[in-house]
Amino acid sequence: MRASDFRSDTVTRPTPAMRERMHSAEVGDDVLDGDPTVRRLEQTAARMLGKAAALFVPSGTMANQVALGAWTRPGDELVAERSAHVVTWEAGAPGYLHGLQSTTLESPGGGLEPELLERVLRPKSVHCPRTALISLEQSFMGGGEVPGGRVIPLDSLQRTQAFARAHGIPVHLDGARLFHAAVASGIEAARHAACADSVSICLSKGLGAPVGSLILGDEAFAERARLVRKRLGGWMRQAGSLAAAGLYALEHHVARLADDHRLAQSLARALHGLPGLSCDPRDVETNIVMVQVRHPRFDAAGLMEALKPAGVLVLPMTRHSLRFVTHLDVGPADVARLEAAAVNLLGARP
Ligand SMILES: Cc1ncc(COP(=O)(O)O)c(C=O)c1O
Repeated sequence: MRASDFRSDTVTRPTPAMRERMHSAEVGDDVLDGDPTVRRLEQTAARMLGKAAALFVPSGTMANQVALGAWTRPGDELVAERSAHVVTWEAGAPGYLHGLQSTTLESPGGGLEPELLERVLRPKSVHCPRTALISLEQSFMGGGEVPGGRVIPLDSLQRTQAFARAHGIPVHLDGARLFHAAVASGIEAARHAACADSVSICLSKGLGAPVGSLILGDEAFAERARLVRKRLGGWMRQAGSLAAAGLYALEHHVARLADDHRLAQSLARALHGLPGLSCDPRDVETNIVMVQVRHPRFDAAGLMEALKPAGVLVLPMTRHSLRFVTHLDVGPADVARLEAAAVNLLGARP
Protein backbone atom coordinates (compact mmCIF):
# COMPACT_ATOMS: atom_id res chain seq x y z
CA MET A 1 0.00 0.00 0.00
CA ARG A 2 1.40 3.45 -0.96
CA ALA A 3 1.70 5.64 2.14
CA SER A 4 -0.06 8.98 2.45
CA ASP A 5 3.09 10.79 3.44
CA PHE A 6 2.44 14.16 5.09
CA ARG A 7 5.78 14.24 6.99
CA SER A 8 7.40 16.83 4.76
CA ASP A 9 7.35 18.32 1.27
CA THR A 10 10.85 16.85 0.86
CA VAL A 11 9.52 13.30 0.35
CA THR A 12 8.50 13.84 -3.30
CA ARG A 13 10.00 11.67 -6.01
CA PRO A 14 11.01 13.11 -9.39
CA THR A 15 8.21 12.88 -11.96
CA PRO A 16 8.88 10.97 -15.21
CA ALA A 17 9.28 14.28 -17.11
CA MET A 18 11.76 15.55 -14.50
CA ARG A 19 13.73 12.29 -14.71
CA GLU A 20 13.84 12.66 -18.49
CA ARG A 21 15.37 16.16 -18.17
CA MET A 22 17.90 14.82 -15.65
CA HIS A 23 18.80 11.96 -17.98
CA SER A 24 19.47 14.17 -20.97
CA ALA A 25 21.21 17.03 -19.11
CA GLU A 26 24.42 18.44 -20.55
CA VAL A 27 27.10 18.24 -17.84
CA GLY A 28 30.69 19.34 -17.16
CA ASP A 29 33.08 19.60 -14.22
CA ASP A 30 31.66 22.61 -12.41
CA VAL A 31 34.79 23.02 -10.28
CA LEU A 32 37.26 22.81 -13.19
CA ASP A 33 35.63 24.63 -16.06
CA GLY A 34 31.95 24.87 -15.35
CA ASP A 35 28.80 22.81 -15.79
CA PRO A 36 26.50 24.37 -18.40
CA THR A 37 23.27 23.15 -16.80
CA VAL A 38 24.31 24.37 -13.34
CA ARG A 39 25.08 27.75 -14.93
CA ARG A 40 21.62 27.84 -16.54
CA LEU A 41 19.97 26.98 -13.23
CA GLU A 42 21.94 29.68 -11.39
CA GLN A 43 21.08 32.28 -14.05
CA THR A 44 17.41 31.30 -14.07
CA ALA A 45 17.12 31.51 -10.29
CA ALA A 46 18.99 34.82 -10.19
CA ARG A 47 16.60 36.25 -12.79
CA MET A 48 13.51 34.97 -10.97
CA LEU A 49 14.66 36.44 -7.67
CA GLY A 50 16.12 39.67 -9.01
CA LYS A 51 19.61 39.01 -7.65
CA ALA A 52 22.90 39.39 -9.51
CA ALA A 53 24.33 35.98 -8.68
CA ALA A 54 23.32 32.50 -7.51
CA LEU A 55 25.32 29.50 -6.31
CA PHE A 56 24.02 25.94 -6.51
CA VAL A 57 24.56 23.98 -3.28
CA PRO A 58 23.39 20.54 -2.10
CA SER A 59 21.00 21.56 0.68
CA GLY A 60 19.06 24.34 2.34
CA THR A 61 21.22 23.98 5.42
CA MET A 62 24.34 24.56 3.36
CA ALA A 63 22.75 27.55 1.61
CA ASN A 64 22.02 29.16 4.98
CA GLN A 65 25.44 28.31 6.37
CA VAL A 66 27.21 29.67 3.29
CA ALA A 67 25.34 32.95 3.84
CA LEU A 68 26.32 33.06 7.51
CA GLY A 69 29.96 32.43 6.62
CA ALA A 70 29.88 35.12 3.94
CA TRP A 71 28.42 37.82 6.22
CA THR A 72 30.10 37.21 9.57
CA ARG A 73 33.34 36.79 11.51
CA PRO A 74 33.91 34.50 14.53
CA GLY A 75 32.58 36.14 17.71
CA ASP A 76 29.75 37.89 15.86
CA GLU A 77 26.08 37.56 16.73
CA LEU A 78 23.22 36.32 14.58
CA VAL A 79 19.61 37.43 15.24
CA ALA A 80 16.72 35.12 14.32
CA GLU A 81 13.29 34.03 15.48
CA ARG A 82 13.43 31.44 18.26
CA SER A 83 12.23 28.52 16.13
CA ALA A 84 13.84 29.55 12.84
CA HIS A 85 15.48 26.66 11.01
CA VAL A 86 18.90 28.31 11.05
CA VAL A 87 19.05 28.37 14.86
CA THR A 88 16.86 25.36 15.71
CA TRP A 89 17.33 22.63 13.11
CA GLU A 90 20.88 23.08 11.84
CA ALA A 91 22.58 21.27 14.72
CA GLY A 92 24.33 24.35 16.10
CA ALA A 93 26.10 25.02 12.79
CA PRO A 94 26.31 28.81 13.29
CA GLY A 95 28.54 28.19 16.33
CA TYR A 96 30.20 25.02 15.09
CA LEU A 97 31.15 26.30 11.65
CA HIS A 98 31.45 30.05 12.02
CA GLY A 99 32.03 30.80 15.71
CA LEU A 100 28.76 32.74 15.95
CA GLN A 101 26.48 33.19 18.89
CA SER A 102 22.77 33.63 18.35
CA THR A 103 20.17 35.87 19.93
CA THR A 104 16.62 34.74 19.36
CA LEU A 105 13.34 36.63 19.46
CA GLU A 106 9.83 35.30 19.78
CA SER A 107 7.47 36.19 16.94
CA PRO A 108 4.71 33.68 16.16
CA GLY A 109 4.28 35.02 12.60
CA GLY A 110 8.02 35.03 11.91
CA GLY A 111 8.39 38.78 11.30
CA LEU A 112 11.18 40.65 13.08
CA GLU A 113 9.81 44.13 13.61
CA PRO A 114 12.06 47.06 14.60
CA GLU A 115 10.56 47.17 18.16
CA LEU A 116 11.71 43.58 18.67
CA LEU A 117 15.09 44.08 17.05
CA GLU A 118 15.74 47.20 19.17
CA ARG A 119 15.72 44.92 22.22
CA VAL A 120 18.65 42.82 21.06
CA LEU A 121 20.71 45.23 18.99
CA ARG A 122 24.18 45.40 20.55
CA PRO A 123 25.88 48.71 21.23
CA LYS A 124 29.12 49.17 19.34
CA SER A 125 31.45 48.33 22.20
CA VAL A 126 34.59 46.32 22.77
CA HIS A 127 32.62 44.37 25.40
CA CYS A 128 29.86 43.18 23.06
CA PRO A 129 29.60 40.89 20.08
CA ARG A 130 28.86 42.64 16.81
CA THR A 131 25.23 42.23 15.66
CA ALA A 132 26.35 40.98 12.26
CA LEU A 133 23.29 39.45 10.61
CA ILE A 134 19.51 39.34 10.88
CA SER A 135 17.97 36.17 9.47
CA LEU A 136 14.31 35.86 8.43
CA GLU A 137 12.44 32.79 7.15
CA GLN A 138 9.79 32.97 4.39
CA SER A 139 7.46 31.13 4.64
CA PHE A 140 7.97 30.75 8.37
CA MET A 141 7.65 27.14 9.48
CA GLY A 142 6.97 27.90 13.16
CA GLY A 143 7.83 25.88 16.21
CA GLY A 144 4.70 23.75 16.47
CA GLU A 145 2.74 25.54 19.20
CA VAL A 146 1.53 28.14 16.71
CA PRO A 147 0.21 27.89 13.14
CA GLY A 148 2.97 27.02 10.64
CA GLY A 149 3.83 27.98 7.08
CA ARG A 150 3.00 31.63 7.73
CA VAL A 151 3.73 34.31 5.15
CA ILE A 152 5.51 37.30 6.64
CA PRO A 153 3.78 40.33 5.07
CA LEU A 154 5.89 42.26 2.60
CA ASP A 155 5.62 45.50 4.60
CA SER A 156 6.99 43.68 7.66
CA LEU A 157 9.98 42.44 5.63
CA GLN A 158 10.47 46.03 4.45
CA ARG A 159 10.44 47.37 8.01
CA THR A 160 13.07 44.83 9.04
CA GLN A 161 15.16 45.81 6.05
CA ALA A 162 14.88 49.55 6.81
CA PHE A 163 15.90 48.97 10.43
CA ALA A 164 18.81 46.75 9.38
CA ARG A 165 20.02 49.25 6.79
CA ALA A 166 19.87 52.09 9.30
CA HIS A 167 22.20 50.06 11.53
CA GLY A 168 24.44 48.71 8.77
CA ILE A 169 23.37 45.09 9.34
CA PRO A 170 22.75 42.73 6.41
CA VAL A 171 19.56 40.65 6.21
CA HIS A 172 19.48 37.01 5.12
CA LEU A 173 16.20 35.45 4.01
CA ASP A 174 15.88 31.69 4.42
CA GLY A 175 13.52 31.15 1.52
CA ALA A 176 13.38 27.36 1.64
CA ARG A 177 9.68 27.85 0.82
CA LEU A 178 9.84 31.34 -0.66
CA PHE A 179 7.78 30.33 -3.71
CA HIS A 180 5.03 29.07 -1.42
CA ALA A 181 4.91 32.53 0.13
CA ALA A 182 4.95 34.19 -3.29
CA VAL A 183 2.10 32.04 -4.62
CA ALA A 184 0.02 32.44 -1.44
CA SER A 185 0.46 36.22 -1.25
CA GLY A 186 0.29 36.89 -4.98
CA ILE A 187 3.48 38.94 -4.58
CA GLU A 188 6.27 37.69 -6.77
CA ALA A 189 9.28 36.08 -5.15
CA ALA A 190 11.65 38.82 -6.34
CA ARG A 191 9.79 41.42 -4.26
CA HIS A 192 10.24 39.34 -1.10
CA ALA A 193 13.87 38.73 -2.07
CA ALA A 194 14.43 42.48 -2.57
CA CYS A 195 13.98 42.90 1.20
CA ALA A 196 17.14 40.88 1.90
CA ASP A 197 20.82 41.05 1.01
CA SER A 198 21.06 37.28 0.58
CA VAL A 199 18.34 34.71 -0.08
CA SER A 200 18.30 30.94 -0.09
CA ILE A 201 15.75 28.81 -1.92
CA CYS A 202 15.21 25.04 -1.89
CA LEU A 203 14.34 23.06 -5.00
CA SER A 204 13.59 19.94 -3.00
CA LYS A 205 10.82 21.34 -0.78
CA GLY A 206 7.50 21.21 -2.55
CA LEU A 207 9.08 21.94 -5.94
CA GLY A 208 9.76 18.24 -6.42
CA ALA A 209 13.49 18.17 -7.23
CA PRO A 210 15.43 15.39 -5.51
CA VAL A 211 18.31 17.61 -4.34
CA GLY A 212 19.48 21.16 -4.34
CA SER A 213 19.28 24.70 -3.10
CA LEU A 214 20.56 28.05 -4.24
CA ILE A 215 22.07 30.92 -2.34
CA LEU A 216 21.73 34.32 -4.00
CA GLY A 217 22.95 37.86 -3.56
CA ASP A 218 24.98 40.58 -5.25
CA GLU A 219 28.37 39.92 -6.88
CA ALA A 220 30.42 40.93 -3.84
CA PHE A 221 28.37 38.55 -1.67
CA ALA A 222 28.69 35.76 -4.24
CA GLU A 223 32.46 36.09 -4.29
CA ARG A 224 32.64 35.56 -0.53
CA ALA A 225 29.97 32.85 -0.70
CA ARG A 226 31.96 30.87 -3.32
CA LEU A 227 34.89 30.72 -0.92
CA VAL A 228 32.68 29.52 1.96
CA ARG A 229 31.00 26.92 -0.29
CA LYS A 230 34.45 25.65 -1.29
CA ARG A 231 35.49 25.40 2.36
CA LEU A 232 32.31 23.51 3.25
CA GLY A 233 32.86 21.07 0.40
CA GLY A 234 29.65 22.09 -1.30
CA TRP A 235 30.99 22.76 -4.79
CA MET A 236 29.86 19.80 -6.90
CA ARG A 237 31.34 18.44 -10.11
CA GLN A 238 28.99 17.02 -12.84
CA ALA A 239 26.00 18.41 -11.01
CA GLY A 240 24.12 19.25 -14.21
CA SER A 241 21.83 16.23 -13.82
CA LEU A 242 20.70 17.61 -10.48
CA ALA A 243 20.51 21.16 -11.79
CA ALA A 244 18.30 19.91 -14.64
CA ALA A 245 15.80 18.67 -12.08
CA GLY A 246 15.93 22.07 -10.41
CA LEU A 247 15.36 23.89 -13.71
CA TYR A 248 12.41 21.64 -14.43
CA ALA A 249 11.04 22.38 -10.96
CA LEU A 250 11.31 26.16 -11.42
CA GLU A 251 9.67 25.96 -14.83
CA HIS A 252 6.82 23.56 -14.00
CA HIS A 253 6.23 23.28 -10.28
CA VAL A 254 5.91 26.83 -8.94
CA ALA A 255 2.39 27.82 -10.03
CA ARG A 256 0.98 24.45 -8.92
CA LEU A 257 1.95 25.19 -5.29
CA ALA A 258 -1.52 26.78 -5.12
CA ASP A 259 -2.91 23.20 -5.30
CA ASP A 260 -0.83 22.26 -2.25
CA HIS A 261 -2.19 25.26 -0.38
CA ARG A 262 -5.77 24.31 -1.25
CA LEU A 263 -5.13 20.75 -0.12
CA ALA A 264 -3.67 22.01 3.18
CA GLN A 265 -6.89 24.00 3.69
CA SER A 266 -9.02 20.93 3.11
CA LEU A 267 -6.80 18.88 5.43
CA ALA A 268 -7.28 21.45 8.18
CA ARG A 269 -11.05 21.42 7.60
CA ALA A 270 -11.02 17.61 7.81
CA LEU A 271 -9.21 17.49 11.17
CA HIS A 272 -10.24 20.69 12.98
CA GLY A 273 -12.70 19.98 15.76
CA LEU A 274 -12.30 16.19 15.80
CA PRO A 275 -12.09 15.16 19.48
CA GLY A 276 -8.75 16.41 20.82
CA LEU A 277 -7.62 18.14 17.59
CA SER A 278 -7.48 21.78 16.61
CA CYS A 279 -6.08 23.44 13.48
CA ASP A 280 -8.21 26.39 12.43
CA PRO A 281 -8.30 26.44 8.60
CA ARG A 282 -8.22 30.26 8.74
CA ASP A 283 -4.65 29.99 10.08
CA VAL A 284 -3.44 27.89 7.14
CA GLU A 285 -1.70 30.15 4.64
CA THR A 286 0.50 27.76 2.64
CA ASN A 287 1.24 24.02 2.66
CA ILE A 288 1.91 23.44 6.38
CA VAL A 289 -0.80 22.53 8.89
CA MET A 290 0.15 22.46 12.56
CA VAL A 291 -2.39 20.38 14.45
CA GLN A 292 -2.63 20.80 18.22
CA VAL A 293 -3.29 17.47 19.95
CA ARG A 294 -4.97 17.55 23.39
CA HIS A 295 -6.53 14.16 23.83
CA PRO A 296 -6.82 11.92 26.91
CA ARG A 297 -5.38 8.90 25.04
CA PHE A 298 -2.91 10.42 22.59
CA ASP A 299 -0.08 12.89 22.62
CA ALA A 300 1.37 13.91 19.25
CA ALA A 301 3.85 11.01 19.04
CA GLY A 302 1.15 8.55 20.12
CA LEU A 303 -1.23 9.76 17.42
CA MET A 304 1.56 9.59 14.83
CA GLU A 305 2.11 5.91 15.74
CA ALA A 306 -1.60 5.17 15.73
CA LEU A 307 -2.01 6.62 12.21
CA LYS A 308 0.80 4.50 10.75
CA PRO A 309 -1.14 1.22 10.34
CA ALA A 310 -3.66 3.15 8.21
CA GLY A 311 -0.80 4.18 5.91
CA VAL A 312 -0.73 7.80 7.10
CA LEU A 313 2.66 9.28 7.93
CA VAL A 314 3.14 12.54 9.84
CA LEU A 315 5.75 14.15 12.13
CA PRO A 316 5.37 15.47 15.67
CA MET A 317 6.82 18.95 16.25
CA THR A 318 6.30 19.12 20.02
CA ARG A 319 4.61 16.89 22.58
CA HIS A 320 1.26 18.38 21.60
CA SER A 321 1.61 19.29 17.95
CA LEU A 322 1.75 17.35 14.70
CA ARG A 323 2.95 18.86 11.44
CA PHE A 324 1.20 17.91 8.19
CA VAL A 325 2.76 19.12 4.94
CA THR A 326 1.14 18.91 1.51
CA HIS A 327 3.14 18.47 -1.70
CA LEU A 328 3.22 17.03 -5.24
CA ASP A 329 2.85 13.42 -4.08
CA VAL A 330 -0.32 13.75 -1.97
CA GLY A 331 -3.84 14.60 -3.10
CA PRO A 332 -7.49 14.62 -2.01
CA ALA A 333 -7.55 10.80 -1.69
CA ASP A 334 -4.72 11.00 0.88
CA VAL A 335 -6.62 13.63 2.89
CA ALA A 336 -9.71 11.39 2.77
CA ARG A 337 -7.64 8.46 4.05
CA LEU A 338 -6.24 10.62 6.84
CA GLU A 339 -9.68 11.86 7.83
CA ALA A 340 -11.11 8.32 7.93
CA ALA A 341 -8.17 7.09 10.04
CA ALA A 342 -8.45 10.04 12.44
CA VAL A 343 -12.23 9.59 12.87
CA ASN A 344 -11.67 5.89 13.45
CA LEU A 345 -9.16 6.64 16.25
CA LEU A 346 -10.73 9.70 17.85
CA GLY A 347 -14.42 9.53 16.95
CA ALA A 348 -16.46 11.97 14.91
CA ARG A 349 -16.97 15.67 15.68
CA PRO A 350 -19.22 16.14 18.72
C1 LIG B 1 12.87 26.77 6.56
C2 LIG B 1 13.93 25.78 6.23
N1 LIG B 1 15.18 26.19 6.00
C3 LIG B 1 16.18 25.35 5.70
C4 LIG B 1 15.94 24.00 5.62
C5 LIG B 1 17.09 23.06 5.35
O1 LIG B 1 17.01 22.36 4.19
P1 LIG B 1 17.81 20.98 3.97
O2 LIG B 1 17.01 19.94 4.66
O3 LIG B 1 17.84 20.86 2.48
O4 LIG B 1 19.16 21.14 4.54
C6 LIG B 1 14.66 23.50 5.86
C7 LIG B 1 14.40 22.05 5.82
O5 LIG B 1 13.31 21.55 5.97
C8 LIG B 1 13.63 24.41 6.18
O6 LIG B 1 12.37 23.99 6.45
